[in-house]
Amino acid sequence: MSGAQASRSTRSLDHNAQIHRFTPNHKMKVPFLDLKAHHAPFIEKFDRAIREVIESSAFAGGPFVEKFEEEFAEFCGSSFAIAVGNGTDALWLTLLGLGIDEGDEVITVPNTFIATAEAITYCKARPVFVDVDPNTFTMNPAELEKSLTEKTKAIIPVHLFGQPADMDPILEFARANGLFVVEDAAQAHGAEYKGRKAGTMGDAGCFSFYPGKNLGAFGEAGAVVTNDPELRKQIQMLRDHGQSRKYYHALMGWNCRMDGIQAAVLSIKLRHLDEANGLRRKHATEYSQALAGIDEVLTPFEAMYARHVYHVYAIRVQERDVVARNLQDRGVGCAVHYPVPIHLQEACRNLGYKKGAFPIAESLADQFLSLPMFPELTKEQIEYVVRCVTEAAIGAEALV
Ligand SMILES: Cc1ncc(COP(=O)(O)O)c(C=O)c1O
Repeated sequence: MSGAQASRSTRSLDHNAQIHRFTPNHKMKVPFLDLKAHHAPFIEKFDRAIREVIESSAFAGGPFVEKFEEEFAEFCGSSFAIAVGNGTDALWLTLLGLGIDEGDEVITVPNTFIATAEAITYCKARPVFVDVDPNTFTMNPAELEKSLTEKTKAIIPVHLFGQPADMDPILEFARANGLFVVEDAAQAHGAEYKGRKAGTMGDAGCFSFYPGKNLGAFGEAGAVVTNDPELRKQIQMLRDHGQSRKYYHALMGWNCRMDGIQAAVLSIKLRHLDEANGLRRKHATEYSQALAGIDEVLTPFEAMYARHVYHVYAIRVQERDVVARNLQDRGVGCAVHYPVPIHLQEACRNLGYKKGAFPIAESLADQFLSLPMFPELTKEQIEYVVRCVTEAAIGAEALV
């Protein structure tokens, strides 16, 4: 470590006086995610709710699902919510419901979870990627024009890590070109864009309730929100074997219903989502303030328009894999979202993209490191993570 780096590290640590409580060898376990802690206060409520589902035998669809649909639609400020089996189903059935078909193109971003592109591919349409904004890591609206063709039918902005994409210019571009907008809000339950809830600005918003999400089920679950009654009807039929009523099949559908037990659990957890998101935001502020003086670490940026809900708190560092190993050795759980952008995944080789096609998404994939983030994180855990990150990152090349 150079002298300059050493003095910078001392200065940074002095800046966080409490951190000195830890000796250099102090080892604490900080999980990446602690679902057990998150569920502990509600165990009795979950027991009661699951018992009610068992007693009423409403296992697939049914009254618990309908109740959750109403509650989630109201939470989002949307006319309808349609509960489905998972977030991938939500995206896929929405695109099918909008009529996306073979030969169509759908524009999205390369730095997302593969499900966004899978849903497009499952409609036999082609995913077309555009690069992202270097600050928000979400779709750069200025990139849309050059990817537009006669085949383009829809745009899927992804509200990555819990921060909404810059929706107004995306919606304006879509309107001007007659395109649908489907928000991938799988990571953004309760996030806001200029006061509007994520998922409610386009033709539809798609959510995942995978257990680790800000609103997570006890297994697989997802939902679509929309204000369009026709789209709602289509998705309701598609998720349930194309039935308009029992055993009358208007179209070839699939089985993507939500389980009653998942809906009952989600109804309980939804009541605590705002509070949990508030805690995530508080922890994010604490991380960002404590890491602000460390030149080797870039902390996440919250856009003026956004209420970020920090599903993921991702810093950027050079030599990310070395830093990650160092954190893991010291008991700090961390993760990489995502190590390979979608256009460079083996599964997308047929799309013909080469390395260098989306330089911002590619450099983010090399630098992102997600730190522990869950509502029950303690001050002591945050301080320990900050200390470990600081010590691991100092000496790495500074990011600009
Ligand atoms: C951005 C994004 N889109 C879609 C999905 C798919 O959701 P699910 O895993 O519930 O199918 C996820 C899940 O991780 C996601 O993060």
